[in-house]
Amino acid sequence: MTALTDDYVLGTHDAEVARLGLQHRLWRARALDAWRRAGFTAGQTLLDVGCGPGYASLDLAEIAGPRGWVIAFDRSARFLDALRSAAVRNALPNIATRQVDLDGDDLGVSGADGAWARWVFAFLSKPRDLVARVAAALRPGGAFVIYEYFDYRTWSFMQQSSMFEEFVDAVIRSWRASGGEPDIGRALPDWLEEAGFRVVSLRPFIDVLTPADDLWQWPKAFVDVGAQRLVDLGALSAERAAAIGAEFAARESGSAARMVIPAVLEIVAVRTSP
Ligand SMILES: C[S@@+](CC[C@H](N)C(=O)[O-])C[C@H]1O[C@@H](n2cnc3c(N)ncnc32)[C@H](O)[C@@H]1O
Repeated sequence: MTALTDDYVLGTHDAEVARLGLQHRLWRARALDAWRRAGFTAGQTLLDVGCGPGYASLDLAEIAGPRGWVIAFDRSARFLDALRSAAVRNALPNIATRQVDLDGDDLGVSGADGAWARWVFAFLSKPRDLVARVAAALRPGGAFVIYEYFDYRTWSFMQQSSMFEEFVDAVIRSWRASGGEPDIGRALPDWLEEAGFRVVSLRPFIDVLTPADDLWQWPKAFVDVGAQRLVDLGALSAERAAAIGAEFAARESGSAARMVIPAVLEIVAVRTSP
């Protein structure tokens, strides 16, 4: 096993645990729909690859039921602890956690029925290798459901804001500096086919939101937590982060606030070759 450094570029602190919870609630309906189309159901073994604090793992464990299993993989001991506590609180004993570095470690599983990875490949330095390792962990016919960005720069206000564009640029720069690639969704379909998957569906999500939309809270939370994280990483000055926060608040309270989200790609693929 490779040496595990616990953190990832967005951090594993309490504010990030809370942000991931909000994010899951806001994207949950789409995930449930994708899992249904992928055939996730009772009695299966389902993998949550890069589970974070495991908000999706809990839902997957309800789907898998008492005769099924969820195996949840992440590098962060802190996130995996949070998931184990939540599994106890929710009376879901069918969740197993594995601390791994997804950039190199074997998953140590074979014959699983399904796998799920959301906003994980974008943080890896060797994402293509993970596609092959997930293929090896699935049975033929097993489905892999993925959510990743494929055009992060679409994140913008409809009425252009140069200050907000500066923030999005800083996020992308610090992301790439940490070895990841925000637009990884563009590469994944080809890599999946190379690894013996058939791509069953590709669905882009690029919503235009107003502050009245519940989903508005998702990019808003990222601005709150992400700007502070950029300050902590030395990628943005505290003054600039405060100015960006003020710009976001001003736009939000304006009369014509409309925001385009960073474009997300949903991929459903099925393992075909043995
Ligand atoms: C944005 S979070 C997404 C968490 C979860 N999939 C979700 O949708 O809520 C990214 C996750 O990838 C994990 N991660 C990043 N790099 C990793 C690596 N090399 N090995 C294992 N996990 C990693 C982080 O610890 C974090 O939990």
